[in-house]
Amino acid sequence: MTKPQPDVLISAEDISARVDALAKKISSDYAGEGEIVLIGVLKGAFIFLADLSRRLTIPRHIEFIAVSSYEHGSVRSGAVRLVLDVRASIEGKHVIVVEDIVDTGHTLHYLIDMLKSRNPASVRTCTLLHKEHRTEVDVEIDYLGFTIGDEWVVGYGLDFAEQDRTLPYIGIVKPDDA
Ligand code: PRP
Repeated sequence: MTKPQPDVLISAEDISARVDALAKKISSDYAGEGEIVLIGVLKGAFIFLADLSRRLTIPRHIEFIAVSSYEHGSVRSGAVRLVLDVRASIEGKHVIVVEDIVDTGHTLHYLIDMLKSRNPASVRTCTLLHKEHRTEVDVEIDYLGFTIGDEWVVGYGLDFAEQDRTLPYIGIVKPDDA
């Protein structure tokens, strides 16, 4: 039996228009600043980073980083550890951390602290989605795609048990599927 597709929360067209706007804003903010370093947080950010980076009109260097959240049963403790680091030094560089989603904020909070300790020229953040009502730790989001509610979302890089990452839109996982 074919699996039903998740309902659309944000269409591919709306995502594309927002990514365009974010790329324009970032290109304008960093014009004349030299090469910026975009750090995508694996795995969820890989599609957003690909689309965003291709639309920038400024010099950019792509890096990836991966973290793991400690879990007690199915509950996340908020503690985060690094499982894959960037390859290049970011000292003296303008850095933008690119996320697919900020949920509790623990991942981004950990990454900002860690990256700032390496003496970059600056660290800013860019996320496609923000679940603002789930915030446990405040983090500055400099470039935001969309604020969403507390639903479980998939697509455009986001998964549910590794499913639906390559959906072209942001969909909502129905309670029956979760
Ligand atoms: C998601 C997302 C962020 C993090 C946000 O990653 O990509 O990195 O959770 O959550 P937080 O704000 O509560 O810390 P996930 O652990 O699902 O891994 P994945 O990107 O590999 O799917």
